[in-house]
Amino acid sequence: MLATFHRWRHHVACLLLVYASPALSALSAEDLAERIGVGDPALGESKARAAGCVGCHGGDAANTSIPRLDGQLAGYTLVQIERFKAGQRSHPQIARDASTPSLTDAEDIAAWYASAAPMYGNGAAANADIASLFEKGDRSRDVIACVSCHGVNGSGAISGSDSTPAIGGQSADYLRARLRTWRAGPQNGAPISVMNLITRTLGDAEIDALSTWLSQLQPLP
Ligand code: HEC
Ligand code: HEC
Repeated sequence: MLATFHRWRHHVACLLLVYASPALSALSAEDLAERIGVGDPALGESKARAAGCVGCHGGDAANTSIPRLDGQLAGYTLVQIERFKAGQRSHPQIARDASTPSLTDAEDIAAWYASAAPMYGNGAAANADIASLFEKGDRSRDVIACVSCHGVNGSGAISGSDSTPAIGGQSADYLRARLRTWRAGPQNGAPISVMNLITRTLGDAEIDALSTWLSQLQPLP
């Protein structure tokens, strides 16, 4: 069993030589394999194109209200697809599309996005208060430091079977909408998220500033 697992890891590590983008090559092959998960990126690309995902999640940040999936952790993407399918997350633009893929297709699609050159901001992030909130949190309001879960520059992190999403370089309007939705409380029977608690005391202006700042980060050097 373990040997099979290691062979599989080796297989993925080899695949990565083909798929790894220059920016992602800053990650070790093992870290990248973990971000990609069990899916097949090559199959995922054709499935994502056939299913029409790419038209909206195409990697350019032109429409800032559509989340970028490029470089996103596959484990996180999969959980979100399952939530769309279960009706725990909904959005007029995506409900129909994200409810289509089977689990295997979703794993492959998520793997392809995870192997793509990561979402990347313009590097302009400069706001000392927001940087402090991200790095240190605010104990007086029970805001836990974002970096402790989302990783350095918001590049995302994996702990056991849980994937905390990449948020550095994510689309600004999307981040803003998502943080406000969480502040409003759990939606449609989705499990209570730590993000419901973290956003509880954030003000509108603070969410705006956080979203802009996060969207400008450059996760991986
Ligand atoms: C018509 C545009 C459109 C298409 C096509 C589309 N999406 Fe989306 N997608 C969106 C929008 C808009 C959101 C944000 C929804 C929200 O705010 O909750 C989203 C959100 C997502 C998310 C959550 C991302 C996150 O960071 O939490 C995932 C995962 C996703 N889409 C996967 C897919 C997949 C897989 C397909 C193809 C089967 C697809 N989408 C097709 C517009 C689209
Ligand atoms: C204790 C861990 C933890 C901390 C601290 C944390 N987050 Fe999160 N965050 C998560 C998890 C887990 C998710 C995925 C939640 C889900 O989908 O239910 C998430 C999701 C998000 C998302 C959604 C990304 C997407 O693609 O939809 C944003 C934005 C976000 N967090 C911003 C922040 C900010 C800003 C801070 C700091 C003020 C922060 N987080 C602190 C764990 C954390």
